[in-house]
Amino acid sequence: MSPTPKAEARKGLSSYFSAAQARVDRWRTIHRIAKALAAGSTAAEGLRKDALDELAALGPIEELCAYPGPALMATLKERLQTGDWTAFARLAQRISVSLLSNSYRDDPEAWKSDDEGEAHTPEVLPPGIGRGQTRKPYFEVLVVTPGERSTWEATREGLRRLRRDTDAFVYEPVVVGSFEDAALAAIINYNIQAVVIFDGFAYPSQYAVPDLREILSAHVPAEATSETDLGTTLAKLLRNYRPELDVYLATDRDVGQLAGSDEAAPIRRVFYGLEEMLEIHLSILDGIAERYATPYFDNLKKYAQRPMGTFHALPVARGKSIFKSNWIRDMGDFYGINLFLAESSATTGGLDSLLEPTGNIKVAQEKAARALGGDRSFFVTNGTSTSNKIVHMALLNPGDIVLIDRDCHKSHHYGLVLAGAQPYYIDAFPLTQYSMYGSLAIRPIKEALLALKAEGKLDRAKMIVLTNCTFDGHVANTLQTMLECLAIKPDLIFLWDEAWFGFARFSPFLRRRTAMGAAAKIREMMRDPAYRERYNAFKASVGEIDPKNKKLLDTPLLPDPDKVRVRVWETDSVHKSMSSLRQGSIVVAADQDFHKIEPMFKEAFFTHTSTSPNLQIIASLDVARRQMELEGYELVQRAIQLAIEARADINSHPLISKYFRAATPAEMIPAQYRQSGYSDFGAPGWNMARTVKALDGDEFFLDPTRITVLCGNAGYDGTQFKALLANDYDIQINKTSRNSVLVQININNTRSDVAHLVKSLADMSRAIEKRLAEGGDKEKAIFEARVKSLVTDVPDLPNFSRFHDAFRDNPKSAANEGHMREAFYLAANPAACEYLKLNSKELDDRIRNGPEVVSAKFVIPYPPGFPILVPGQVITESTITFMRKLDVKEIHGYNAAMGLECLRPDALAALKGKPSADRPAKPVPVGA
Ligand SMILES: Cc1ncc(COP(=O)(O)O)c(C=O)c1O
Repeated sequence: MSPTPKAEARKGLSSYFSAAQARVDRWRTIHRIAKALAAGSTAAEGLRKDALDELAALGPIEELCAYPGPALMATLKERLQTGDWTAFARLAQRISVSLLSNSYRDDPEAWKSDDEGEAHTPEVLPPGIGRGQTRKPYFEVLVVTPGERSTWEATREGLRRLRRDTDAFVYEPVVVGSFEDAALAAIINYNIQAVVIFDGFAYPSQYAVPDLREILSAHVPAEATSETDLGTTLAKLLRNYRPELDVYLATDRDVGQLAGSDEAAPIRRVFYGLEEMLEIHLSILDGIAERYATPYFDNLKKYAQRPMGTFHALPVARGKSIFKSNWIRDMGDFYGINLFLAESSATTGGLDSLLEPTGNIKVAQEKAARALGGDRSFFVTNGTSTSNKIVHMALLNPGDIVLIDRDCHKSHHYGLVLAGAQPYYIDAFPLTQYSMYGSLAIRPIKEALLALKAEGKLDRAKMIVLTNCTFDGHVANTLQTMLECLAIKPDLIFLWDEAWFGFARFSPFLRRRTAMGAAAKIREMMRDPAYRERYNAFKASVGEIDPKNKKLLDTPLLPDPDKVRVRVWETDSVHKSMSSLRQGSIVVAADQDFHKIEPMFKEAFFTHTSTSPNLQIIASLDVARRQMELEGYELVQRAIQLAIEARADINSHPLISKYFRAATPAEMIPAQYRQSGYSDFGAPGWNMARTVKALDGDEFFLDPTRITVLCGNAGYDGTQFKALLANDYDIQINKTSRNSVLVQININNTRSDVAHLVKSLADMSRAIEKRLAEGGDKEKAIFEARVKSLVTDVPDLPNFSRFHDAFRDNPKSAANEGHMREAFYLAANPAACEYLKLNSKELDDRIRNGPEVVSAKFVIPYPPGFPILVPGQVITESTITFMRKLDVKEIHGYNAAMGLECLRPDALAALKGKPSADRPAKPVPVGA
């Protein structure tokens, strides 16, 4: 039986993601065939052949997975050969269902070959598998061995014999004999948590399966060949691909020397030869225990069990004010006792202080930094809104210039007001047709930096703030962006707002485009002699960075390895893409100069952090880290796969696609930023290797999990459609635009969720068809007019105009930074403000003839959710036109009854010549 046409059509990224699903699909097919055979089908011979073909196709993948494993596979094949259809069907069903539901990780029955409850062989069933108290988390260990295939069972057995009742986890070994098979196993098998490499194995895979070859070709670096030192090369590959894996190397090389070398850096422990099997077993368990341990959560659980008497200010602690209450006991019943047992305002007695962590919070933060690829991390219990403000305040001084994406989250704009830094706003590329902005391209950033350099202000340009990925899924080329900026300003600080993108660290595809992924790469490049040569050649051809040289804008710039300071910060809403409670957020830093700003970082953290941080949020951040380090790879791969399938389901459905559409990368990213021409996740001709090149090279890539569903052709605006989905179909979505909604696929979503969405879209499409068919010409005309207004008559998106001259040091400057804080506080004085009605002639006249109209406030419509006006900004016609066309209910900073709050011309005139607290102070020489 050949794969379905849909499966055939999936290529590139999508074929890779469907590899795991293709396996389950094949098992389902085998199950179907088995049922037909057991039911006495007359076409038994043909079916048997089909089943054999399916099993043969599955062979290579099954060799890389411990379940169902060689013994159950042999039994299954034997039953097929002997024609015992009933027994064959029983076992096929068991395996298929277990794989589909992952129940083999918990259910002893899955490992048995018969219903009678007897294990086929006692060894097949890993002990400790089961539910309830006795359950031990299950994983698999990849063993790469030079031994003959005939010795593999003995290797498996050897490891199984080392199991002890006291082990906290249970694992099954998967044995392979070559470099390529080991790489494939790590890629395909989500259960693998540790890899034991016995040196001396072969290079090529024993399978010539084209799909698997394609996957390998994209991931195995060209330098890995049979001639290289395969053990350490494999360890390096695994570290890049799945950094969370524990890798052990057993070798007969000089282990003392090897262990201390750079080659061994990706290896957790080096062993000498085969002598140390028990040590290897214990190390494997120790490695898992290290990732499993959640120091803060573990202590909180212990704390909750202790019979504490509390005399501090938190009546709900221990639940006594709740469970004894006549009136609020239902709160206790709803949340359960543990929530209250785990509530405390104490920072001692096994708990730690978020504000001054020295114990388990400190360790939990170190672990989170490791998981996310940074040098250090800080838990934040008030969302990334607060994380961003902390970073602004920690890193900036009044008068510093900050290059900033005008569309970034409002916390950054407020952060700049608090810090007194001057924003230099740069506009993202517009997606006018969807009434949304894309992301900030590299060229305008370079333009801004060069403009500052030309005016001798580059030293004041301290930081750049970028959003990655954007709400709508535009993923930046973090590496290219940072390299080019560092070429102009080698110590520029990067703040990447990755509120939506924390999960990307756990995808081998997306990781390269995270802030921390790129920061690690830059560190590596700056140490690499080959990069130095590249840089020297670049310098010889381009010369010094001269702002008058317009060619620089179109030349990829390289930074000087001797000057670069890696100063990269990332903020993640852990609650948005991982399993933390709402408001769980994290700041991650890879900053070579952290020691210089550490005191200020503390001050900023103290400024913004409650002295009563929520313990449950801290614990959930700790647990979210554990989950991602142990199953993030699996969960993220599955989410991406699901998203790619959902996109295909919507766009290939003949009826749904008449009215709705999942916007493709080609629709969401203008061609000039997709240098490779990458157009869609399942586009023909895109094999894995080409897709990975696009991921490496293109200026922007679309996060497949963020699906913009265009609904304008169905006659719905985003807000209407969101309400319809919520009210009539029980579907909650997040963001809307004029003619779209954003459907976000997360690590919690299932195939059933996607089916629910697709079914709802199909139902709505049918309802529209019916309405149009039965409503006559009038209905059609109304519908068409509505679609036209939503899809064609879209308002232009207003760019940032400029700060009023009163807030500029030099109004003639080509650089656009301004004293926003001054404008913000000027507006605190009601006498300095005036109100102009949005739809008034007065406003039109003022804009046309002056005096200039200047915003007193941040004006933030939802959607799009970013400030279309900031304090001190000159209001232009394009902004007003946009606001007039915008029929949204929620506009922060604007009161329709009063009008636009503006700064009065006389108040602005009075500022002339007055010194400002935010004007850059002349640096006073230390010790002067
Ligand atoms: C890009 C971006 N950054 C930061 C935030 C704020 O995050 P939080 O909700 O965790 O405070 C948001 C919220 O939507 C966001 O979209």
